[in-house]
Amino acid sequence: MTAIDVRPTPDAEAVAAAVAAALRTIDANLAEFGDRYPGDTTVRGRYRARDGNVGWTTSFWPGMLWLASSLTGSPRYAEAAAAHVSSFASRIASRTDVDTHDLGFLYTLSCVVPWERVGDPVARAAAVDAADHLVTRVLPAAGIIQAWGDLGDERQRGRTIIDSLMNTPLLFWAGYSDIAQRHVEQLRDHILRPDNTTFHTFYWDPATGAPLRGETEQGDSDESCWARGQAWGIYGFALNHRHTGDPSFRDAARRCADRFLAHLPADGVPYWDLVFGDGSGEERDSSAAAIAVCGLLELGEPRYVEAALRILGSLMDDYVDPSANALLVHGVYDKPKGVGVDEGNLWGDYFYLEALTRVTLPDWNDPW
Ligand code: GLY
Repeated sequence: MTAIDVRPTPDAEAVAAAVAAALRTIDANLAEFGDRYPGDTTVRGRYRARDGNVGWTTSFWPGMLWLASSLTGSPRYAEAAAAHVSSFASRIASRTDVDTHDLGFLYTLSCVVPWERVGDPVARAAAVDAADHLVTRVLPAAGIIQAWGDLGDERQRGRTIIDSLMNTPLLFWAGYSDIAQRHVEQLRDHILRPDNTTFHTFYWDPATGAPLRGETEQGDSDESCWARGQAWGIYGFALNHRHTGDPSFRDAARRCADRFLAHLPADGVPYWDLVFGDGSGEERDSSAAAIAVCGLLELGEPRYVEAALRILGSLMDDYVDPSANALLVHGVYDKPKGVGVDEGNLWGDYFYLEALTRVTLPDWNDPW
C-alpha cells in the first residue's frame, strides 16, 4: 500500500475534459508562437518565445502538435507540426547546438514522427543524420554515449545521464541497436543503485571503460534521488525493454517504478528530489509525475496502470491552471541552479498530453 492508493482514478468524462482543456491551451499557443519555439519553462507563469531552434526541448512543441493531431484528427495540427521539419533539418545540417545526447528527444518527435505519419523524406534524412551524429558520441571502451559537451571537454568526458535512456529509441529506429543495447546495459549496471534509486549522472573512465562514480547536476546531492531522473528511468528502461525484449531492462524499469511509487506524497506528485516529503516546504515536479505516468502505462501491469491513473488524476485536478499557457503547472527544471522552479515546462506539457493520449486512444502508436 502506498500513499496514492487511496486516490480515485479519473473516469472517461474527466479525461475527455482534461484533453479539451489541454487543446485550448495548445490552440492559444499556436496563435502566439506559430512556427517559433516557447522557452524551456514558463517565467513567472508564462512561456515566452525563444530565439531560434536551440536547446534540448524544442521538439516537444511539434510533439504536442502531433499528439493534438492524433487526438482530434484535425489536419491543422498535423500541418502546424510538419512545418517544423525544415527548422530541425537545418539545425542538424548546420550542426547547431547538437553536441548532446538529447538528439533522441529532438529528432524522434520532430522528424521520425512526420516520416512515419506522412512520409516526409526530408524528415527521414534529418533523423538519420541526427542518429549518425549521436553515435559519434560513443566512447568505445565504456560503451556509453557521452551526455553533454564536446568530447574533449575534461569535465564532461566519460559522463552519461539517466535521461539518455529516452534517446536510444532514435538509435533503434536508425539501426544502431548494438550501440543502444550496450549503453542501456551500462546504465542498468551502474546508474541504477542496489536500493533501486538512481544516480542522475555517472562517469566512466573513457580510456579503460572502468565505472568511476555517480554525481548529480539537478538533484539535491550526489547520493539523493532526483525525482525526474527516477521517472526517466521508469519510462526509459521500459521503452528499451520494448525495443530489445531484454527482460533485465523491464526489471530495471520495475525497480525504478517501485521505488518511485513508494516515495510519493499523498497526492501522487513527487517533490523535485525523492529525499523530500510532505512538510519539507520543497517544490513538486509535476513533469516527473507526467513522465512516470507514461512509463507506468508502458509497463502495463495492472498495479502500475492503476497507479498511473491515480497520478494522472491528481495532475488533472490540481496541476492545471486555465490562466497559464503551460498545460501543466508546478514543475521544476533545475532547483540547485534556480532555473524553472515552480514553473510549467515543455517536457512536462508533452508527457502530460502523451499520458492523456495513451489513456484516450489505447491503440495509439507512441513515437518512441
Ligand atoms: N533531460 C533534462 C532534464 O530532464 O532536465
